[in-house]
Amino acid sequence: MTDDQPTTGVVLAGTDAPLAEGELVVLSDRKGRRYLVTLAAGEEWHSHAGVVPHDDFIGRTEGMAVRTNRNMEVTVFRPTREEFVLKMKRGAQVVYTKDQAMIVAAADIQPGCTVVEAGAGSGALTMALLAAVGPRGRVISYERRDDHLAHARRNVARWLGGEPDNWECRAGDLADALPGLSAHRIVLDMLEPWRMVAGAAEALAPGGIVLAYMPTVPQVMRFSETLWADGRFALVKTSETLVRNWDVDGLAVRPAHRMVAHTAFLTTARRVLRREEGGPPLPRRKLDTGPAIDWDAVDRGGAQEDAAAERDEDDGDA
Ligand SMILES: C[S@@+](CC[C@H](N)C(=O)[O-])C[C@H]1O[C@@H](n2cnc3c(N)ncnc32)[C@H](O)[C@@H]1O
Repeated sequence: MTDDQPTTGVVLAGTDAPLAEGELVVLSDRKGRRYLVTLAAGEEWHSHAGVVPHDDFIGRTEGMAVRTNRNMEVTVFRPTREEFVLKMKRGAQVVYTKDQAMIVAAADIQPGCTVVEAGAGSGALTMALLAAVGPRGRVISYERRDDHLAHARRNVARWLGGEPDNWECRAGDLADALPGLSAHRIVLDMLEPWRMVAGAAEALAPGGIVLAYMPTVPQVMRFSETLWADGRFALVKTSETLVRNWDVDGLAVRPAHRMVAHTAFLTTARRVLRREEGGPPLPRRKLDTGPAIDWDAVDRGGAQEDAAAERDEDDGDA
């Protein structure tokens, strides 16, 4: 591994080294369709565009176009993390790049941080967290479903060339583990993040940050109200991130016709001391939220799964 490589082992796109057997590459056709391939000597890549022997890529450089036996050209690249996530196999719905970026920024995930996350799901957010904390930091991921845990482990290992030393991937419900943990940041992508609030207050030192990623408004309401009610959280903020792509072609410069309108909301909060310990006064709530909502009925409605299905744009093919 050369000095410009992250210690976790991924070969960076844009690295000036020939493509080697065993490396992941992305093949891009004329229409911009992308295919994720692990290079293996003697094997062939087959698609509607035709056939190309992997040996045509091994030993060559990124950015090179190769002709298939049907005279179509495909260009080879090392994948970006975004390309890998869109094409990797998933169990659970992943967090996409626009939200990963905002999660890292909103939760202030810095090199050297210890981050606890749940659920690991397919491992997409885990990869972003590992990149953000760097080799001096640590990510501890909890996942309560064994099948999802297996996906997360396989995807992270495939992307990073093995499970990195600074990642602990644990089976189990985060609610059971949190009171015994200690972290700078806690990142929740799960159905019931409000169940983690009391444990998060135990695991975070004052100033620490908890973040939840939630597709639906009832989840945001319940999580926020639980944070306020706990008395150890302040600066509770919610946002969503919309990314509008543009087509730029000659004078035809305009927003793309289609966009992903909704994925999920981010709610962050800072751990503070309780008022009686010297912490800040809790703000007066502006509105009575009205009659109690039957949250269990909301959960059984499968709201998160519906929203998750909608945010799944890409089936993945690797
Ligand atoms: C939407 S997925 C997470 C996707 C993941 N962030 C990614 O980007 O690939 C939600 C996951 O949380 C897990 N989960 C839900 N509640 C949990 C809990 N209390 N403790 C641990 N995992 C939990 C579920 O099994 C599911 O795999």
